[in-house]
Amino acid sequence: MRAKFDPSGPLKGTIRPPADKSISHRAAMVAGMCDSPVTIRNYLNSQDTNSTLAAVEAVGAGIERRGEEIVVRGVGLRGAQESAAGVIDVGNAGTLMRLLPGWLAGQPDGDWELDGDDSIRKRPMRRIVDPLRQMGAHIDASPEGTAPICIEAAPLSGIDYVMPVASGQVKSCVLFAGLVASGATRVTEPEVSRDHTERMLAAAGVPIRREGESIVIDGLVDELELGTIDVPGDLSSAAFMIVAGVLIKGSRLVIKDVGLNRTRIGILRILERMGAVVLADPEGDSNEIPGHEPVGDLDVAATTLVGTEVSGDEVPLAIDELPLVALLGAFAEGETVVRGAQELRFKESDRIATVVDGLSGLGADIEATDDGFVVRGTGRLKGGTIASHGDHRLAMLGAIAGLASEEGVTVDGMQAASVSYPSFESDLRHLIG
Ligand code: S3P
Repeated sequence: MRAKFDPSGPLKGTIRPPADKSISHRAAMVAGMCDSPVTIRNYLNSQDTNSTLAAVEAVGAGIERRGEEIVVRGVGLRGAQESAAGVIDVGNAGTLMRLLPGWLAGQPDGDWELDGDDSIRKRPMRRIVDPLRQMGAHIDASPEGTAPICIEAAPLSGIDYVMPVASGQVKSCVLFAGLVASGATRVTEPEVSRDHTERMLAAAGVPIRREGESIVIDGLVDELELGTIDVPGDLSSAAFMIVAGVLIKGSRLVIKDVGLNRTRIGILRILERMGAVVLADPEGDSNEIPGHEPVGDLDVAATTLVGTEVSGDEVPLAIDELPLVALLGAFAEGETVVRGAQELRFKESDRIATVVDGLSGLGADIEATDDGFVVRGTGRLKGGTIASHGDHRLAMLGAIAGLASEEGVTVDGMQAASVSYPSFESDLRHLIG
């Protein structure tokens, strides 16, 4: 599907972004591990998170939609069943593909196969296969280290795993396996990545703690209990509206009820350095793992921008927003440089290549590097056509680029937005007025 986004006047008004995708995936999976029913309020209704509900149902959990709420009747930590429907289809959902195997691998019995779409079949899976095998898992990927993934239940032992790359997905997979493994599991990350799994497990009663750069679960867990979970708004989805508001003169937006977890707000810090006024009241630093997610409102106003540098430890805190940093850089004064972001190459598309090719096709002065990109700001963007490559964040990037451009942007493959933000176009129309 092609959609044209014309140059826009100021964006004004208030929106509640869709529910957080990362937290929704985890809520469905952890609820599936509980013995008593869990009510999830504000679960994200999108292609990716619907794949996760279907997967949790396939391994035996009951899923009941009650108006705005979803009630999950879990199978308990060690009660996952084989999928009567055969292969579990994860669709486009990398988080489902990488987290669920951790839990399934340590079940008392059963076997499972997980597969997904063409994009999923290109994404690296050795990053979960390797640590799970070290724990004793019987798990296989294709010879290229990609999906499909086959798992046969086996007894697992805890490990001390030093992650080669900072990844919220890999960390969560090992922690899920740690729940059903004997002995302690310790995961050490090179940089802090999103900590939604740790918080949700803490809320479910798991003895989990942070020790410096490591997360530790001390041995066997018997039972999880969550009760009710409220999913906050997704800052990664809101970021598209925030950037539109910052770029288009005269805009003033209020973003309500958005998750402000300190491991997700890298984009707000980057925007601040570039000179934007995005007010938030995030939580402070702490070594404790809180069993909740902080939520707040953001107040966004348009402004002139200066270039900035993003590197190393900041990358995991803004990983999904880095395509937007490239767009901001095109409008900023001076250079914007992103380094240490080679992980972008392994997302729903190779986001270094697709962002650089896409934005330079629209007139941006942007160059790819091995681990990121360099943008020389010109304060303007001509416009043209951009392909989404089936990547939801690229489709939405193209749309926002169009609003801020001189001639508008046609996005080829706009339907990809429904992977995380099905109401993206109607929310935009509401803000444009
Ligand atoms: C996610 C973690 C990130 C992010 C992805 C969702 C998660 O991936 O890019 O969109 O839910 O844990 P990595 O952990 O692989 O960096």
